[in-house]
Amino acid sequence: LPVGIGKANQILKNASRSTQPSSTGKITGVNAVVLGEALASEDDELVFPNDDFSRQALVPSLEKYLEMYKWSVEDPAGFWSGIASQFYWKQKWGQPVFSENFDFRKGNIKIEWFRGGITNICYNCLDRNVESGNGDKIAIYWEPNDPGSQDSLTYSQLLQSVCQLANYLKDKGVKKGDAVVIYLPMIMELPIAMLACARIGALHSVVFAGFSAESLAQRIVDSKPKIVITCNAVNRGSKVITLIDIVDAALIESAKTGISVDLCLTYENKSAMKRESTKWQEGRDVWWQDVVPKYPTTCEVEWVDAEDPLFLLYTSGSTGKPKGVLHTTGGYMVYTATTFKYAFDYKPSDIYWCTADCGWITGHSYVTYGPLLNGATVVIFEGAAPTLVRSLIRAGVEYVTRYPRKSLRVLASAGEPINPSTWRWLFNVVGDSRCPISDTWWQTETGGCMITPLPGAWPQKPGSATFPFFGIQPVIVNEKGAEIEGECSGYLCVKSSWPGAFRTLYGDHERYETTYFKPFPGYYFSGDGCRRDKDGYYWLTGRVDDVINVSGRRIGTEEVESALVSHPQCAEAAVVGIEHEVKGQGVYAFVTLVEGVSYSEELRKSLILTVRNKIGAFAAPDKIHWAPDLPKTRSGKIMRRILRKIASRQLHELGDTSTLADPNVVEQLIALADR
Ligand code: WTA
Repeated sequence: LPVGIGKANQILKNASRSTQPSSTGKITGVNAVVLGEALASEDDELVFPNDDFSRQALVPSLEKYLEMYKWSVEDPAGFWSGIASQFYWKQKWGQPVFSENFDFRKGNIKIEWFRGGITNICYNCLDRNVESGNGDKIAIYWEPNDPGSQDSLTYSQLLQSVCQLANYLKDKGVKKGDAVVIYLPMIMELPIAMLACARIGALHSVVFAGFSAESLAQRIVDSKPKIVITCNAVNRGSKVITLIDIVDAALIESAKTGISVDLCLTYENKSAMKRESTKWQEGRDVWWQDVVPKYPTTCEVEWVDAEDPLFLLYTSGSTGKPKGVLHTTGGYMVYTATTFKYAFDYKPSDIYWCTADCGWITGHSYVTYGPLLNGATVVIFEGAAPTLVRSLIRAGVEYVTRYPRKSLRVLASAGEPINPSTWRWLFNVVGDSRCPISDTWWQTETGGCMITPLPGAWPQKPGSATFPFFGIQPVIVNEKGAEIEGECSGYLCVKSSWPGAFRTLYGDHERYETTYFKPFPGYYFSGDGCRRDKDGYYWLTGRVDDVINVSGRRIGTEEVESALVSHPQCAEAAVVGIEHEVKGQGVYAFVTLVEGVSYSEELRKSLILTVRNKIGAFAAPDKIHWAPDLPKTRSGKIMRRILRKIASRQLHELGDTSTLADPNVVEQLIALADR
């Protein structure tokens, strides 16, 4: 058992469980907190699931979890093959069930699960559910930007649409192993396109439709797709964004590096823009509606090995170039389906809504694959909704409380820290102090949830992701890479593989090893800091590298810096994250100008615009801090630690500045803080 959990078990057993509501009628529990009153420590706040919920839960108690968890880590092959057998395999996997090398000192890092097993994830999402009699069940409810034009697809209809597109792609020469770039907003065609690629064994590489032409071009150059799938335009609130123009600019850019794409399948998103007003590249651009519906509604499945690639998804790291995270078929399938089922206590009668966009990993694992593999009914929302909870709090409770919410069973949060007060608001206001909250910690790289509450199984602590999922062995290590036990904090690593782990960075296995496996030999390093409390609960404390999390979106500070210095009047830039009430973290940029240029409001706007154009609007700096100079060591390294303190105005905590080449720089920066 992982350190801590055994102890938690004991503590929870000993705890005299209170079923009495607290004086406010809100959160209840052993050390129930009365809202507004300070606790001795956040670690002491236990929120128990109610008995009715626990009775019906898939994992009804901590004891049951511990039993399953123990099995999953002592016999991973047995545990995961039992689950994998519930899917359709054209041919069963061979032996061993999995093999791994997590230690670069013993050779190349390698992770394999279910090697030799022949399957198809699209078949398991769709055909399997249709064949088991769920063809008429709604697979997707679509909620558009403009209320009134809702739509839906049953499992049979979804299968047919996927087959038509798959046939089209095949006809256009897309084969097993080819990449397809998908640049679409949250319309049903996005999961349809993902599934169609999976059906024919092509890799999808979805690029979030908020990325700029330049970012899209960078991803096209790296993944070299046969086809780009997009739509002409999308509504964002009252604005119309012309996606096809962005694709056009990206393709011109990528062609300069020798990567040309001859076919751009474009969905006519009529509610945003009619085809008559769309700028068109004859010969390259083809309307989806003109060609795809002509293809047959059945399509042979391309059977693939469990270790054949399923998709690429680019994510930000500490250095400028985005990383193409590669997931393979079998392990990802088994892991997303299982985490979906248990982390959300899924029941076949549930209607499930995940606010994420398919442009990010959450939309891959918990809008598309996880739910559909379970035969669930998913709601897809066209608008943008990350960081939803913090924005809702600002809007007041009445938007929530005017609806009954009786049908809500489980709430969940992912991708960024949810602090205790936001947690309590979600719990009390949205969930009526009744629904468990799954605060799931995971990453693009991990494929699915890694540390997460299992609803109903154990008391929660607001702000803690609680305990590891089945098969996951988190460890906390110190600077030297030594595992630390019991109550502690340090770097969050994982010992040994799990089926949903990414297998490489596309085209750069060396970077994969260097970034994730070399910092702490023998472990996968997450890049996150973490604390384990006295009861064994895990608390994520944020990234320890130069990655920031803005509205749940991962941004490398270096990406923003290179965008800024591409501006002709910017000489140097250093970007740090700061706390932001709504976005979680905001982008704070220190900017040094070219000799002779002086700062102005106009220049500030133009710098921000450059970032919007280079990366996307979501990465735009919240603050530009004019910096005549940056604090550097004598060897010229920027001291970000000091910049972070200045950015968050923790001026009394600047620490040792004596190693700076010029300590006066700091005073100068402070003086300019509010210019
Ligand atoms: C952060 C999103 C606190 C973390 C699924 C991680 C979290 C990064 C949580 C990955 C959580 C994710 N609590 N922080 N429950 N979940 N994070 O790749 O810093 O977009 O490393 O995957 O988000 O972001 P990514």
